[in-house]
Amino acid sequence: MENRDAELAEKILSLKKRRNAVILAHNYQLGEVQDIADFVGDSLGLSQNAAKTSAEVIIFCGVHFMAETASIICPDKTVLLPDINAGCPMANMITAEKLRDKKMELPYVPVVCYINSSAEVKAESDICCTSANAVKVVESLETREILFVPDLYLGHYISTQTNKEMILWPGFCPTHLRIRPEHLTRLRQEYPQAKVIVHPECRPEVIALADEVLSTGGMCRFAQQTETKEIVVGTEIGIIHRLKRENPGKKFIHVSEQAVCPNMKLITLEKILWSLEEMAPEVKVPEEIRLKAKAAVDRMLEIGRG
Ligand code: 13P
Ligand code: SF4
Repeated sequence: MENRDAELAEKILSLKKRRNAVILAHNYQLGEVQDIADFVGDSLGLSQNAAKTSAEVIIFCGVHFMAETASIICPDKTVLLPDINAGCPMANMITAEKLRDKKMELPYVPVVCYINSSAEVKAESDICCTSANAVKVVESLETREILFVPDLYLGHYISTQTNKEMILWPGFCPTHLRIRPEHLTRLRQEYPQAKVIVHPECRPEVIALADEVLSTGGMCRFAQQTETKEIVVGTEIGIIHRLKRENPGKKFIHVSEQAVCPNMKLITLEKILWSLEEMAPEVKVPEEIRLKAKAAVDRMLEIGRG
């Protein structure tokens, strides 16, 4: 860690103690941010950790819907998102109003929302899911038809793993769509021994070329358990930091330098320190929406990991 980072990290850690705060970071965060976090994980792991922490303040190093989910789960805690502009373009591809219109067309069809959605959208949904439990969540529902929002690609992947009829919303992750089949074909030639793991937000042509389709938490577990020494990683670049740190003897090949989520990179050590000093920007979900959204999130948490 560079001097400046070390200095900032020290200040953050001491202020964090005084504030009784916990730092939760997503696997896509900058390396220096992951290094100062109390917990680094996928969307499900982060929600589970928010649910069980005894800290009074949660510094959420991730994007807006993740901080909102923490606020939904822990209304009594102060949830801070060090850069309020860290949003998720996919989550912004659906609104509660548009979802309500769609539900009018499909009155008996349950709605499963990907956690990458706003609190208002969660409030309009029957159950939430993450990439770590999406198939299990969808299978827990009795109807054959399911309205899945907002990720078309995750929804399509689930449809290949179940016999449900999935009605899909046309949302997508711009970062994962930059991963193309040609990237994997080239890397397979270059690293013939490697295993290829990809995220289910990728397009079907990419998923078809992978050995494993995993959430980011699933990727970290896979990397630790596999005998394979070379792994091609088809997701956002930030995860490579954690994979390397936890598996020093293995080689991780990132699929494309274009697979970077600019929103995840908005959280920096400077902003975390500022956020702790100012106790801002706070993310707080209004109580009426929170209670409805919590029902969908709680149902998912009862199901746990897939
Ligand atoms: P997971 O870490 O839950 O697999 O999700 C990835 C993601 O895109 C978060 O925005
Ligand atoms: Fe949203 Fe994609 Fe960034 Fe995840 S990687 S936060 S889905 S834009």
